[in-house]
Amino acid sequence: MSAGRAVPLLGLAWACAPGPSPDSAQPASPRLDLALPPHFPALPGGAPTVAEAELGRHLFHDFRLSVNEGRSCGICHEGKKAYTDGFVRAVGTTGQSHSRNTLSLINIAWRGPLTWRDPSVLELDAQLEVPLFGEHPVEMGMDPAGLVDRLSGISLYPPLFAAAYPDASDPLSMAHIASALVAYERLIISGDSPYDRWLLGEEGALSAQAEAGRQLFFSPALGCSGCHGGLFLDLPTDADGQPTAEQPDYLNTGLYNIDGQGGYPPEETGLFALTGQPEDMGRFRVPSLRGVARSGPWGHDGSIGDLGDLLDAYARGGRLLVGGQYPGDGAQSPLKDPRIAGFALSAADKAALLAFLDALTDEEALSRPFLQTPFCSDPPDTADGACTPVAP
Ligand code: HEC
Ligand code: HEC
Repeated sequence: MSAGRAVPLLGLAWACAPGPSPDSAQPASPRLDLALPPHFPALPGGAPTVAEAELGRHLFHDFRLSVNEGRSCGICHEGKKAYTDGFVRAVGTTGQSHSRNTLSLINIAWRGPLTWRDPSVLELDAQLEVPLFGEHPVEMGMDPAGLVDRLSGISLYPPLFAAAYPDASDPLSMAHIASALVAYERLIISGDSPYDRWLLGEEGALSAQAEAGRQLFFSPALGCSGCHGGLFLDLPTDADGQPTAEQPDYLNTGLYNIDGQGGYPPEETGLFALTGQPEDMGRFRVPSLRGVARSGPWGHDGSIGDLGDLLDAYARGGRLLVGGQYPGDGAQSPLKDPRIAGFALSAADKAALLAFLDALTDEEALSRPFLQTPFCSDPPDTADGACTPVAP
């Protein structure tokens, strides 16, 4: 590819510019020169080279990144499920259950603090060590040296690393594994939903019902946008809709009240599990709502199976759980955010809000060919759950 030539990757308009290493022995891979959605800020970290993105795509979808080849990043973060897995709570490669629901990776390049509840995880390359190497729970069950060794022994990888990092004396390293995965993750860009087209002024981009839902979402009476505001619908905003902070809040929305004092189930107590501060019980990061109609089940623990039920819980000012393991009335929780105060919601309003949430999905971004697995078809085609690799 020559400098300046547009290549149709990711369904966006890409143009290639010369790569970073014109003097190396290996020909430099061209950089992806992204034409981002016009209303998006610049891509953090800048555009990767084509070779690094291609390496990242392989790594993200390769089951051999887990100890018994049962999980890839991509099987837990699947495009058509808005880069989640459809499980209530994620299940790691050795069968251990996570205490939280899988988060979407849509527009992850612009996310501030990562994960549902740990404000100290700020960078994607630090975050990916959690699923790869974490033990509580085991998600992929690897260790750094074992991972480098394993990839070195798979004939596919040394050339892919050499192409991605032509200047490095040791291309196949943990640092480069992380760099390529991050490069791939940052390409999960979604900015062409009906709501985006509405933001860009396209007439008729939202159906009449979704437009009614948009107005409810941004109304003072419902107040959704006070927490789910800004471009990615995860920032606090003032009465004029302007973000009042650069990072999402960590809040208790009254999903549980197991003891009359706002208690959450002991297996997942939110920020409280990290700080031990009583007021942090049940506080979770406000999630982005882009692609939300496809990312169910919802909530930090996947306990919301239906978006209509969640709207009912917001309307009554907290979730009422009768029976089951953790009965209680979240509306009576002393720890819930005061903005979860309840509101009237007619059946038509509810349908309108659901139509608006649906309009936050960019269909093309969920099935972009360039982001799909380069390996076997889905579901895996071997008895042990591993994919059969095919040549890139
Ligand atoms: C077993 C399923 C599973 C696997 C495998 C997995 N993840 Fe995740 N991922 C999750 C869960 C669950 C969360 C939410 C974690 C939390 O709240 O701490 C998450 C969260 C994330 C986040 C943070 C999203 C946000 O909005 O803050 C990123 C980024 C991420 N994963 C990337 C990866 C990458 C890269 C890989 C492969 C190296 C990977 N994941 C493998 C289940 C998985
Ligand atoms: C006070 C801040 C606040 C307000 C107001 C608020 N939310 Fe939320 N929302 C959150 C938080 C925090 C979570 C995560 C809660 C959890 O899982 O424990 C969340 C979760 C969600 C989810 C689930 C997302 C997912 O990926 O699992 C949806 C959908 C949602 N909110 C929609 C709405 C709508 C619609 C409104 C208005 C009726 C609204 N929210 C009002 C803070 C808020």
